[in-house]
Amino acid sequence: MANSSLRGSTIISSRHQLVGVRSASSDSDSFSKSLSFSSPLPNFSLKSSGNTRPLQTKRITPVVRAMEVDISLSPRVNSVKPSKTVAITDQATALVQAGVPVIRLAAGEPDFDTPTVIAEAGMNAIREGYTRYTPNAGTLELRSAICKKLKEENGISYTPDQILVSNGAKQSILQAVLAVCSPGDEVIIPAPFWVSYPEMARLADATPVILPTSISEDFLLDPKLLESKLSEKSRLLIICSPSNPTGSVYPRKLLEQIAQVVARHPRLLVLSDEIYEHIIYAPATHTSFASLPGMWERTLTVNGFSKAFAMTGWRLGYLAGPKHFVAACGKIQSQATSGASSISQKAGVAALGMGYAGGEAVATMVKAFKKRRDYLVQTFGALEGVKISVPQGAFYLFLDFSSYYGTEAEGFGMIKDSESLCRYLLDKGQAAVVPGDAFGDDTCIRISYAASLSTLQAAADKIKDALISLRRAVPV
Ligand SMILES: Cc1ncc(COP(=O)(O)O)c(C=O)c1O
Repeated sequence: MANSSLRGSTIISSRHQLVGVRSASSDSDSFSKSLSFSSPLPNFSLKSSGNTRPLQTKRITPVVRAMEVDISLSPRVNSVKPSKTVAITDQATALVQAGVPVIRLAAGEPDFDTPTVIAEAGMNAIREGYTRYTPNAGTLELRSAICKKLKEENGISYTPDQILVSNGAKQSILQAVLAVCSPGDEVIIPAPFWVSYPEMARLADATPVILPTSISEDFLLDPKLLESKLSEKSRLLIICSPSNPTGSVYPRKLLEQIAQVVARHPRLLVLSDEIYEHIIYAPATHTSFASLPGMWERTLTVNGFSKAFAMTGWRLGYLAGPKHFVAACGKIQSQATSGASSISQKAGVAALGMGYAGGEAVATMVKAFKKRRDYLVQTFGALEGVKISVPQGAFYLFLDFSSYYGTEAEGFGMIKDSESLCRYLLDKGQAAVVPGDAFGDDTCIRISYAASLSTLQAAADKIKDALISLRRAVPV
């Protein structure tokens, strides 16, 4: 079907080569026949004047000759760094394909199946023909359920028009950053950070400002450091609690201190990424930033279904905030993806119906995660030269192994940073873990314990053996 918005338009390549000309009356078939790989046509104006007058039909006979393709990319894309985790993951996959029994602890997704009641709701949606577009912002049914959840579990009041359901929390965050940041604005990101935050800031032509934290302070942001880095340019502070990659949970008192700093900067908004909120280990408790006095107006709360409900593949997340900002994000979404999957939204309603904080099914998963965390903390804690901040939530352990840097591993080479250490652990220990460098802290590596206890035991043994043989190596 012809796309009406393309009618009367000239389709050009970035080096002004004419690729095709479409008349107001042309259909997609005649359009494709008029495609040409010719050299630039000097007579063509490339100006976009908003003029809706159809251009004259101009048929161009296909020319069969080599086309010089302009392979340049947009500066925006060029400013985005490729994920460093991809390299190690690719290497691990290649080893597995070659028959090497690599234990993969790099994944950021629960190893559990989606709870049956949620999966059934999705299957019923398909059976009942609930397979059409939903409203861009999400179904009223799901947005109402989200409002109820946010009120009961988080103590924050929203109406359905203050909720935007998206295809995963990742989309919610990107849209929020795009919606509120202008070129030159600063996005304040405590490190270690989730890999996507700085790149999303760059995609919005904003500048990521990374604020370091320390393992001795459980990787929590110091409000004084925050205060010292804020200026007129500061537009968005991103807080992730419980955190990926550290598992740190911000105590309410600290969030209140941060809120006091934020309140002194009228331009500053806060994006509170709460996607791991249910995966939290007592006595730690979760506080929603928007629930703090004076913070509702300037907080964009992001949450989703991927982690707590083991629904990574269903692609469902949401943003809650003042209507003005949510509507702006909705505008971006309406031109990008439209509403999330109708099937996933039905499943999301079922997930929120499972009881407070996900009920029994989520509690069972959290119990298993805690057991694994305790095992790994104990095992690696006994290892010489390793620093640990005991994670209070999520399913990651962010370990400081920097005391092993500066050694030459026999048959491997120099261990000089988190990336070389991870490659060494993959090579010698056959365990795939992620270099801390990817999260803005090169002293550490991230181990995901979204794997069975027996898998973790096998991996820990291999990692320990590899590290011990490194200890024996002579520092250079
Ligand atoms: C901190 C954090 N935020 C957001 C996301 C995005 O989650 P999703 O898009 O699957 O909802 C992830 C996924 O790894 C994450 O770790």
